[in-house]
Amino acid sequence: MFSFLARARNRIAFAAAILVAASVPAHAQLTEETAKQAAQELRLLVTEGTGVIGDLQPAINGGKTTKDQVSPDALVGQFKARYQKAAGAPLDVKAPGVVGDARRAYLQSFTSVVTRFQGILAKGGQDAFVPAFFRAQVLKEFNQLMQGRIQGYATNRDNELINGDWAVQKVMKGSPLAPEVQGLMAKGGLDPIVKRSGNAVMGYYPMKLAPACVACHAQNGLKQTVGAFGGALVAEIPVK
Ligand code: HEC
Repeated sequence: MFSFLARARNRIAFAAAILVAASVPAHAQLTEETAKQAAQELRLLVTEGTGVIGDLQPAINGGKTTKDQVSPDALVGQFKARYQKAAGAPLDVKAPGVVGDARRAYLQSFTSVVTRFQGILAKGGQDAFVPAFFRAQVLKEFNQLMQGRIQGYATNRDNELINGDWAVQKVMKGSPLAPEVQGLMAKGGLDPIVKRSGNAVMGYYPMKLAPACVACHAQNGLKQTVGAFGGALVAEIPVK
């Protein structure tokens, strides 16, 4: 009787040890190559996800959205369609490794934010729900879910901020990449940079200003030029 219980306890302890061991490799540090792929994936997810809210800007700003059009199901569908078009393959959320984890975390964050802001999306109004605000909310949840394995930030130069909350010193607080990103933004180059920097891979993706960006920002008191640098998306991924 006692030996049966002892054996059962042993088995439980053994099973628990296997579970712990199985979860370790998933959090082991990534190779540089895998981290670079993950940075590109984050860029794709964030660009296409934010594009869904970008596409809706005329309807949102004109207060002309319908409830069906902005339902979480409809917007998730738009996101998947945009992703498939850009990637040339459907969004595979069952993919293994950090890329699969990033897809699941992004989809969950996207869904959560469009659900939370349903009222505002359906009501609309000028600047009621701009892409940058949406992106910041999604990245905040995404970063929490990824627990430091990938971090994503969207920011701009200090003298061109509409919302001071998105200053590089604030969104990248504590990140060793912050000074480098600040320097790159000051130069204002438009080419993406994906490289190792210290113990991390940095994906630096500048945004180019389109006429609609400049027109709306001008209403918020910002003087910018079409085709010029208009902020950056940054991915930070710790590596071996
Ligand atoms: C309908 C208006 C509107 C459009 C269109 C728009 N923006 Fe913005 N943008 C804003 C507002 C308002 C903010 C401040 C957001 C906040 O308060 O969180 C902002 C913020 C930003 C930020 C974050 C830094 C900051 O200034 O706070 C970036 C980067 C940015 N926009 C880039 C772009 C780019 C690039 C485009 C075009 C592809 C674009 N925006 C289109 C209104 C707009």
